[in-house]
Amino acid sequence: MPLSVTSDRDSHEPGGQSCALKSTFRFRCIGCGAVTSSAAQDFRCSQCNHLLEITDPKWTSTGLDAAALKSVWRERRSSTAVLDLSGVWRFRELLPVPDSEQHVVTLREGNTPLYELPRSSGITGVPHLYAKHQGMNPTGSFKDTGMTVAATFARQARYRWVACASTGNTSASMAAYAARGGMRSLVLVPDGKISWSKLSQALDYGALTCQLRTDFDGCLRLLQELVRCAPVYQLNSINPFRLEGQKTLALELMEQFDWLPPDHIIVPGGNLGNSSAIGKALLEMREIGLIPRVPKLSVIQAEGANALVRTLRETAGKQLVSVQAETRATAIRIGNPASWEKAVKAIQATGGACEQVTEAEIAQSKAEIGAEGIGCEPASAVTLAGLKKLVRQGFVKKEETVVLVLTGNLLKDPDFTMEFHRGDLFPGAHQPEAALLQPLRHPPVVLDATLQAVIDTLEQAEKSDSSNSDA
Ligand code: F0G
Repeated sequence: MPLSVTSDRDSHEPGGQSCALKSTFRFRCIGCGAVTSSAAQDFRCSQCNHLLEITDPKWTSTGLDAAALKSVWRERRSSTAVLDLSGVWRFRELLPVPDSEQHVVTLREGNTPLYELPRSSGITGVPHLYAKHQGMNPTGSFKDTGMTVAATFARQARYRWVACASTGNTSASMAAYAARGGMRSLVLVPDGKISWSKLSQALDYGALTCQLRTDFDGCLRLLQELVRCAPVYQLNSINPFRLEGQKTLALELMEQFDWLPPDHIIVPGGNLGNSSAIGKALLEMREIGLIPRVPKLSVIQAEGANALVRTLRETAGKQLVSVQAETRATAIRIGNPASWEKAVKAIQATGGACEQVTEAEIAQSKAEIGAEGIGCEPASAVTLAGLKKLVRQGFVKKEETVVLVLTGNLLKDPDFTMEFHRGDLFPGAHQPEAALLQPLRHPPVVLDATLQAVIDTLEQAEKSDSSNSDA
């Protein structure tokens, strides 16, 4: 079923004024550049099979006034209108908008905090270091910012079923937005390879959840076949509406920096939708004149799931090098990333880098972010691990401003955290990194329920704190 792409509606502005918001977006092929007004279910070009992206003639320097946009978006922060309360729809001038506000499915996503990272600044030697914490979204990951847009268009097109393949977060988010939008959701996840907390979210939000005996890439392949023969609407990040919503991370971030862009944005890479979305947003913002220059966008992968790293190193980004993915950062356990071409463009157009980090580096960095009182899931921690590498290589200069995108909440993968602190994460005799990780471990202590036992433990902790600070 093709999607309707024209819209003509009023939107309510703060202060009760009404301003016409006419949607004029189109689908554009990232390969041949062909522009169409509708897209097939696989969101690929019918001519050359490359993925589609969304474009809008009004997102150009002549169409929108940057100063006016900044002021409207700022004003909306004090509005109580439903669309303005969403950190995504607040930026609707740069998004495809539905025919009617009634179609919008929102959980007040976005509006996520930007934190300073003093401890990690000390570790990396980068004083101007920040975390944009997308784990503070309604379902605990960045997926919500894209899901609100894609679920809205699914509802507008009157789909009964939406579906995704997932390493966990997409399914949690999709199931929540489907439930809010009155749709049924079908989740395909690799059996035994996603965290229980993500799986439990999908169950609670009412998804029909299939644990398939394959990996994420196998789930996605199967979904592609399914959408060709069944009336289900796919909500993976192949769906370009998802990426439009995820652009708002960059918009909100620039607003938080008062439109003076940081030098670097560092993001984890899995299926590569998020890096594509952020890159697209940065280029559009520069074109419209919202920012004077684009930050370098760098993508970090786990060493065991490094398809993009290898694609760039071995083919200069021309041909995807698929891998058999393996990493404890299960969110990014992906070997055949769908949006690799979009991500290559984002990295190359912004002058960013692409790096890989080891399992021990991920675990260490995750514990360090935890020690900031913020916390994140393992996949998000690749950003800090990657930054350390990029500083060592001289790609990131110490005086530059750096933003790490933390994609998921600490509570998303409690098993990883518990195993880390108990010392069970890396079983086996040879643990060269063990000494490095040991000081970051805080295993729980089981005691008799006596005052003396607690006091003794407190004194022991005090002693080890002072010997660590002397060291
Ligand atoms: N971080 C987290 C926490 C994720 O859940 C994902 C992807 C990524 C990073 C990578 O983002 O795919 O846009 O490059 N999770 C997807 C899922 C694949 O199904 O939840 P990406």
